Amino acid sequence: MHLRSGVSMVKLDLGSGPRDFWVSDESDWLHLDCEPYEGVIQWTCPEPIPVKDRSVEVAYLGQLLVELSIEQQLALADELVRVMKDDGVIRVHDYDGVLGYPEFFRRLEQHGWRRVKEELVNVFEEPDGTILCTYMVELKKIRWCRVVIKF
Ligand SMILES: C[S@@+](CC[C@H](N)C(=O)[O-])C[C@H]1O[C@@H](n2cnc3c(N)ncnc32)[C@H](O)[C@@H]1O
Repeated sequence: MHLRSGVSMVKLDLGSGPRDFWVSDESDWLHLDCEPYEGVIQWTCPEPIPVKDRSVEVAYLGQLLVELSIEQQLALADELVRVMKDDGVIRVHDYDGVLGYPEFFRRLEQHGWRRVKEELVNVFEEPDGTILCTYMVELKKIRWCRVVIKF
């Protein structure tokens, strides 16, 4: 099944959770989660994401990677490579940013998806004193990069 097959612009909220946790309420977002929340398309990673190849403009993963095994993360990266438009953007909000999920980000990087931004979002202190940090990472597909060195 492919959703909104006639729509060329798709925004995905993957692992969206229930409505109160959605990244946006705007109607052009599709919310997907393994749980049958109201208004959410049921999808369990590593199943294929039910949209067409190269149809997604924005994909948002809010604390989904932390829930997945490395195998599931790699399958998700492969699916993102399939569904994202070349000029799309992938945003990941999760614990420890790129350092937390090296295999996932490396797989995307192998397909040209590079980190263009990484920002600290939250710092929590656990009851045992452990400090947890979440980061927002933004990835774009870079075809080539020219470095000019001036002497
Ligand atoms: C920590 S919540 C994040 C919710 C929301 N994105 C946010 O940023 O607050 C993680 C969500 O991922 C979903 N999830 C966990 N494993 C999943 C899987 N294998 N496939 C799809 N969704 C999954 C959970 O049901 C849950 O709603």
